[in-house]
Amino acid sequence: MNTCTVITGGAGFIGINYAAHLLSRGDKVIIFDNLSRAGTPRNIEWLKKTFGESSFELIVGDVRDENQIKTAVKPADLILHLAAQVAVTRSVIDPRTDFDINALGTLNVLEAARQSAKQPPVLYSSTNKVYGDLEDVKVKEGENSYFFPNHPEGIPETQTLDFHSPYGCSKGAGDQYVRDYHRIFGLPTVVFRQSCIYGPHQFGIEDQGWVAWFVIAAVTGRPITIYGDGKQVRDLLYVEDLLSAYDQAVAHIDKTAGQIYNIGGGRKNTLAIWKEFGPLLEKELGRKIPVDWQAWRPGDQRVFIADIRKANQDFNWEPETDVETGIHKLFEWVRAHQDLF
Ligand SMILES: NC(=O)c1ccc[n+]([C@@H]2O[C@H](COP(=O)([O-])OP(=O)(O)OC[C@H]3O[C@@H](n4cnc5c(N)ncnc54)[C@H](O)[C@@H]3O)[C@@H](O)[C@H]2O)c1
Repeated sequence: MNTCTVITGGAGFIGINYAAHLLSRGDKVIIFDNLSRAGTPRNIEWLKKTFGESSFELIVGDVRDENQIKTAVKPADLILHLAAQVAVTRSVIDPRTDFDINALGTLNVLEAARQSAKQPPVLYSSTNKVYGDLEDVKVKEGENSYFFPNHPEGIPETQTLDFHSPYGCSKGAGDQYVRDYHRIFGLPTVVFRQSCIYGPHQFGIEDQGWVAWFVIAAVTGRPITIYGDGKQVRDLLYVEDLLSAYDQAVAHIDKTAGQIYNIGGGRKNTLAIWKEFGPLLEKELGRKIPVDWQAWRPGDQRVFIADIRKANQDFNWEPETDVETGIHKLFEWVRAHQDLF
């Protein structure tokens, strides 16, 4: 019998990619999504066109509704919990809604899994934002980028948690609940603290999904604003590499249950957000891209690079797509779908 996976937030960027990945290998997929994110109906349309109208089930529902989610996960052999309020900026404007979706919504998913006869593994997409401002980590400034002189491999999972912003708090609460449901209830749960993920089907906006946003803005000629000096560094992970991390963690669930993993591009896949990304984009586009420079925003990290060695040790995972190749693929996708933006 084919595995049945319920993907909450499955109509969004990561979810639609994972759904396509599962459908192409013949698995059963149930997408649970309230379609609140712009671009989600188009993602669903694309999935239907690619795999057939009835190749998957779509439940238009809300993770804040405990009964809806309880019913939806009953057939699940695996749950990938992605549904979230994803923008830090929105979380500051409306912290209660952010909490309800991210913290309470995650508790609802966990309770639904715990009460399911199948006791399915639950994979949770957390964020590196749970490490906050990294106040205790030394940062140095290079010619085009910032770097960690004492952490050449990046930040490990043992870094002190320091939830910053309502989004950081609500995602961090979910992160800790997910881990604890393994300790207290024995549910096989895995937490992925994800760095910047990028790839096709990402409807990036300035507030969230900045890699896709820069590509979309560059291709469609919209203004790009850089806050700070553009030397800020992030580790980037191409979405397909994230999907293989999910698969590998499930394949090694005896080892990964109850564990937390940093999942990102790691030290080999970093990019200074404009000092390095700008020239890359200009090469793709074949012309100069004008940008508007603004002051640093409060809480902007100078650098974040995930130490991803634990995932490598426990389930033999590492990213395969380098930044230049990944950006090129995203660029091609955006160029071919300009009518969507
Ligand atoms: N993309 C990244 O770089 C990144 C990095 C770290 C963590 N994450 C996490 O990964 C997850 C997926 O991110 P994404 O980039 O695919 O975002 P996305 O916005 O494309 O997907 C989130 C999906 O959740 C749905 N949703 C929102 N509120 C809901 C609710 N109340 N009930 C049901 N569905 C709801 C949205 O409609 C959307 O389809 C999120 O939990 C996010 O916090 C993403």
